[in-house]
Amino acid sequence: MEIAKELPGLITPTEIYRQLSRYVIGQERAKKAVSIAAYSHVKRVRAKASGVPLSARKTNVMLIGPTGCGKTHLARTLARVLDIPFVVADSTEYTEAGYYGKDVEVMIGELLLCADMDVESAETGIVFVDEIDKIARRSHGAVTGAGSRDIGGEGVQQSLLKLLEGRQIFVPTNVTQHWSKHDFVSVDTTDILFICAGTFSDLHLYGGGSKCVGFNTSDSPSRQGHITEKDLLRYGILAEFLGRVPIQVQMSALDRDELLAILLKPPDSLLREYAELLSLDGVKIDYKKSGLLEIVDRTLSHETGARGMKAVLEEVMSDVLFRGHELAGTTVKVDRRFVRSQLEKTN
Ligand SMILES: Nc1ncnc2c1ncn2[C@@H]1O[C@H](COP(=O)(O)OP(=O)(O)O)[C@@H](O)[C@H]1O
Ligand SMILES: [Mg+2]
Repeated sequence: MEIAKELPGLITPTEIYRQLSRYVIGQERAKKAVSIAAYSHVKRVRAKASGVPLSARKTNVMLIGPTGCGKTHLARTLARVLDIPFVVADSTEYTEAGYYGKDVEVMIGELLLCADMDVESAETGIVFVDEIDKIARRSHGAVTGAGSRDIGGEGVQQSLLKLLEGRQIFVPTNVTQHWSKHDFVSVDTTDILFICAGTFSDLHLYGGGSKCVGFNTSDSPSRQGHITEKDLLRYGILAEFLGRVPIQVQMSALDRDELLAILLKPPDSLLREYAELLSLDGVKIDYKKSGLLEIVDRTLSHETGARGMKAVLEEVMSDVLFRGHELAGTTVKVDRRFVRSQLEKTN
């Protein structure tokens, strides 16, 4: 029986992928894996709502890749495409229950807040758990600075496990203030999709040394070894945890062409934003390829991915933005010379 066809408005993996690709450049493998996981997610939720629950397990995802390669961006874009509640949680802010710091239930509380306190909607949302590599089990307490108790590592993984497994949990409804006994609501995490992400940048320190793993920044993307489940276990991610995040996708650092495409292609690209903003002052911006490549190359030398590119672009444009009104009626040509001169001013 093709239940999928009977579920109204079910978006296909190819359609999810197509929509993701408008905003997320490159990272083809990750976009495909996430599209499939999202499709299963929506299918499960819809099937359950129509009274024919699927037995298939949830397909939580782990994104592994260097800083600024689009992990958060991919997850955020996915939530927008699916039009479901989405929160970003930083694992390093959480501790095992009873210790100073947030309990993991707060993540679900924030999701609920994002769903306008609609429990049913929150129960189908996406929680993006960032910096998952920072809560690896540390055999030496000194690493976490937490003494002999590993309250920010294994303990948090254990607490997260219970959310990943799918439980009816009590969530504080008032996440911004101190909890009071009465501000709790029950949320079932069974159908919440978890997307975990981490850089695992020092993975090579935990490896056998024979293989090049992790994202040693001096390596070109092609030299980055493939990270296996075994590597993650050795790094200190619990086996039970990995079992609950069965889809692990490695993302690579964005290359020159991809960074250039990020400037030019997305409908919400920064170049467009600046041009629009300045057109209000009567200033025309003429972006030249030589200028954009200069920005890209500067970004590549910082090794901070697309995130760093925003900072570089901001530096390049800040003077024009500042003097916008004085430049009314003129055209600013953003070519190599202009980019270099602007970057020299601030360095
Ligand atoms: N693959 C990409 N395609 C388009 N934009 C990207 C991509 N990767 C990063 N960006 C841009 O750079 C910013 C920072 O990326 P982010 O997703 O936060 O990186 P990280 O991998 O560290 O989570 C994003 O907000 C987005 O604007
Ligand atoms: Mg991120």
